[in-house]
Amino acid sequence: MLGQPSFELNDTSEQALQWAVKNRGHHTVRVDPLACTRALHAHGFYYCDTLVEPYCQAAWFIEHPHPAVALHASPALAELEAIASGAFVHGRFHRDPHVPREQAEQRYRQWLEQLHAAGQVWGISMQQQVQGFVAFEGNQLVLHALAEGARGRGWAKYFWSPLCRLLFEQGHTELRSSISASNLAVLNLYASLGFKFRHAQDIYHRLSP
Ligand SMILES: CC(C)(COP(=O)(O)OP(=O)(O)OC[C@H]1O[C@@H](n2cnc3c(N)ncnc32)[C@H](O)[C@@H]1OP(=O)(O)O)[C@@H](O)C(=O)NCCC(=O)NCCS
Repeated sequence: MLGQPSFELNDTSEQALQWAVKNRGHHTVRVDPLACTRALHAHGFYYCDTLVEPYCQAAWFIEHPHPAVALHASPALAELEAIASGAFVHGRFHRDPHVPREQAEQRYRQWLEQLHAAGQVWGISMQQQVQGFVAFEGNQLVLHALAEGARGRGWAKYFWSPLCRLLFEQGHTELRSSISASNLAVLNLYASLGFKFRHAQDIYHRLSP
């Protein structure tokens, strides 16, 4: 997806780190924020991001209904791509100084295309104009954005509310997502919907030439 092989290590053992050093490509490893990272640094890994998991049980959900907001089961991919273009600047690949911006964009484009092809993206409109989307896998909200012109107005909670309601109505007892701790707009969005946060993970990358 990044124009080169990309790998995610399951552990930070000496053997795994050596493997990353020897194998060409982009390597990711997730670690507890309090873990010792001396070996990671010694093997050329660098810090990229801290992820946290917003989660919400049905009883905690704070709904913010809005009469002009509606869900669309089959949004056009072109509309979603226009919303997504340049949106994911908090993503770990955008923040990785060794990944060219175009490759980071391409990675999100391909992921969105896959989710759209699998029928896993809801478009969300205000006054019948699609201005946002949420892609999901089961009970997980995996990728989401509002159109640039709709951001920063306090509207996001209205856009997310019908989708959260739908997922709970479908029988999910808990909703989850994964966000960058640096993305305060999405963090406060989830807080305003009643989500709590857990499982902080530091993300380290290594580019092996
Ligand atoms: C994440 C996103 C959907 C949030 O929508 P938004 O329109 O920017 O957010 P809102 O204006 O509705 O604000 C949401 C909450 O965060 C707060 N907030 C917004 N920007 C903030 C900032 N820079 N710092 C701190 N708080 C902020 C708002 O006060 C609001 O809280 P409230 O509802 O309690 O008042 C939007 O920013 C977006 O599409 N970003 C690009 C894609 C992205 O980052 N997606 C998430 C990762 S997949």
